Amino acid sequence: MTSRVLYLFGCAAPPVLDLAGAVQRARSDGWSVCVGLTPTAAGWLEDQLPTLEEQTGNPVRSAPRSPEDREVWPHADAAIVAPATLNTVNSSALGLTPNFVTGYVAEAIGMGWPLAMMPYVNSAYATHPQFGRSVETLRSAGVRVLYGEGGFRPSPPGEGDRTAYPWHLALDAARSLAG
Ligand SMILES: Cc1cc2nc3c(=O)[nH]c(=O)nc-3n(C[C@H](O)[C@H](O)[C@H](O)COP(=O)(O)O)c2cc1C
Repeated sequence: MTSRVLYLFGCAAPPVLDLAGAVQRARSDGWSVCVGLTPTAAGWLEDQLPTLEEQTGNPVRSAPRSPEDREVWPHADAAIVAPATLNTVNSSALGLTPNFVTGYVAEAIGMGWPLAMMPYVNSAYATHPQFGRSVETLRSAGVRVLYGEGGFRPSPPGEGDRTAYPWHLALDAARSLAG
């Protein structure tokens, strides 16, 4: 049987350093995984990129393809943006597409593709007035935003624990979105 395909997009917040573990969990759940990163996250994970490619069997992408290049990833059954930064949450809600990840989010919203986002923000970032508006906008656009009850809950600045990031909730959402 062919595995279902999960796009796992990471942004530049500390849990992205544990992305390989999330990939491993997804693969144990039966997913074939494609990893996409924001340019900043790709810089943070520079040393891990060969391992992630070996682990997934797919190229790690952090830049849009050129119009002349063919699509290199298989079609996705579900996609997760996790960890999603304040920057990527707000950019996505505003329809801004400065990079590969936000470009995918904009397309997924327009096309109605299954997409979940799980932020990782401290309680100071979370009180920025745009953040709450962005979460609402994304939810009303059909994105499953895993924030608050049943999702990520912020800690005060300096008290976050990246190892407590609830990857399992993102993977549960992917499974439910893929049907
Ligand atoms: C050490 C460090 C930790 C950071 N942690 C977070 C974080 O937890 N959440 C967040 O939204 N941004 C965090 N940032 C800021 C983002 O990395 C920054 O806004 C970046 O521009 C996000 O880019 P991206 O959304 O394209 O990945 C952190 C930055 C640094 C240097």
